[in-house]
Amino acid sequence: MQEFTDRIAVVTGAAGGIGLGLTRKCLDQGMHVVMADIDETRLAEVARQLRQNSSQDSSLVTVVPTDVSDRASISRLVDVVEGLESEIALVFNNAGVASSGDLGQLWNATHDDWQKLIDVNLWGVINGCMGFLPILMQQSSPSRIVNVASIAGVITAPALAIYTMTKHAVVSLGESLDQQLQAAEASVAVSTVCPGFVRTHLTDGLSLEGSDGGDVSPTMRENLTWFEERVRDGTDPAELADRVFEGITHERRYIFTHSGFRDAVVERFDTILEDLDSARPHHGG
Ligand SMILES: NC(=O)c1ccc[n+]([C@@H]2O[C@H](COP(=O)([O-])OP(=O)(O)OC[C@H]3O[C@@H](n4cnc5c(N)ncnc54)[C@H](O)[C@@H]3O)[C@@H](O)[C@H]2O)c1
Repeated sequence: MQEFTDRIAVVTGAAGGIGLGLTRKCLDQGMHVVMADIDETRLAEVARQLRQNSSQDSSLVTVVPTDVSDRASISRLVDVVEGLESEIALVFNNAGVASSGDLGQLWNATHDDWQKLIDVNLWGVINGCMGFLPILMQQSSPSRIVNVASIAGVITAPALAIYTMTKHAVVSLGESLDQQLQAAEASVAVSTVCPGFVRTHLTDGLSLEGSDGGDVSPTMRENLTWFEERVRDGTDPAELADRVFEGITHERRYIFTHSGFRDAVVERFDTILEDLDSARPHHGG
């Protein structure tokens, strides 16, 4: 069982939503939280409120404005954390974005839609893992990287195609990295969180205006409305953080926080297995 008290938790995307929920949970565990986010103003405001409301030492929160998609920015974050006195227990690679253009048909998505989602949702997690791994692997006490993917990372979700693609990649990265670390008998483990819908700011910036200023397609309009409604009715981030910690305590490789998606997982694998089983023996293995 991992010790959390007096150790460091790094949380990216900490200025709101799931990241802020995780930050509060870590503070409740007596951890020193390093909050990283691209939104410098909101990060400072949220940290001020946490310090004001906390009965604990205000030094338990450190803020580091960070763009996770930028390697140099992550290196600066790593430097700040290395300068702190305690060891790291948890690194949450949580920052992520959704993009309006992703909600229509893929052939209508712009290059910028692809770029933004891959840069933040995938490179952000790669940068966080690779930036912190050298320190974590040198520590004697156990630590855990916790990557926030999505239930979209294990199912087929064409309404959010590019987002879903990045989350599948994050799930795959976590699986391989955790297996490699266990094979190397490292003190670091990896968990991948696959939440269903959570009530956050994820859909705040999404708009029904196309990149050319014109109207968007009916498919995109329908998908955006569907997505916004699900997120609005989603789980409270504080509750989500409790479920994530339960998964961490049980040292789970996959942390599923919502139970309602079994049919979608089965449907995806049934389709894969049906096509896999149609391969003829002479195709070889
Ligand atoms: N809300 C949901 O229903 C849901 C479901 C499954 C997975 N997720 C995932 O949870 C994670 C957190 O999202 P959320 O729902 O809390 O959304 P959110 O928008 O409330 O929070 C995301 C935070 O990430 C920050 N951020 C964005 N780009 C960044 C960058 N380049 N560098 C650093 N910080 C950046 C934002 O400023 C924001 O504070 C994301 O990875 C998201 O894909 C969300």
